[in-house]
Amino acid sequence: MGCIREDGTDEEVVVKFRAGCDMKERSLVAEALAALLAADLDLPIPEPFIVRIDPAFAAIIPDADARVKAEASIGWNFGSKRLPSGFSTIPKDQPVPSRLIDEAAEILAFDTFIANSDRTVDNPNCQSNGKQLAIFDHELATQNTIEYIKHLVMNIDSAISNLVEALK
Ligand SMILES: Nc1ncnc2c1ncn2[C@@H]1O[C@H](COP(=O)(O)OP(=O)(O)O)[C@@H](O)[C@H]1O
Ligand SMILES: [Mg+2]
Repeated sequence: MGCIREDGTDEEVVVKFRAGCDMKERSLVAEALAALLAADLDLPIPEPFIVRIDPAFAAIIPDADARVKAEASIGWNFGSKRLPSGFSTIPKDQPVPSRLIDEAAEILAFDTFIANSDRTVDNPNCQSNGKQLAIFDHELATQNTIEYIKHLVMNIDSAISNLVEALK
């Protein structure tokens, strides 16, 4: 959605309404912390924002579902700068381009560090334009560590064999 930065300039931001998150404010704190950490580690994450939704704006959203969520999310929400055109999800039957393998491995390590169980083959929460990757959706980070360990144990074989396959 079109947002206004503190300095008055416009920005296109993908906003995550906290009312739509399973763990409400906690999900958005996880998003913000993961985004700042990823940026610090030079991982490819769109610029994060804290977005203030005000009641007058929420009231005029034409789509009823979005309006209800926005009205339940008045105040602070998490957002990320909208990726430029050209980014899309890498189809799951295609290998990660070889120049991006190292960064993909760093993202795997990052997910392990933040206990993010939400990046899977079917739900990569990652897009590419062929030259760069972009990661998003860290609301589950640190929230369900036991589930994450189960996920890791069940998927580590396929994650490693995908990497080995891609490196051939
Ligand atoms: N910064 C962004 N730029 C462009 N598209 C985005 C961005 N962030 C999220 N999206 C799109 O919105 C979808 C939903 O966002 P996501 O953070 O994954 O939320 P959810 O918890 O609903 O999966 C993503 O799959 C992606 O297609
Ligand atoms: Mg997602």
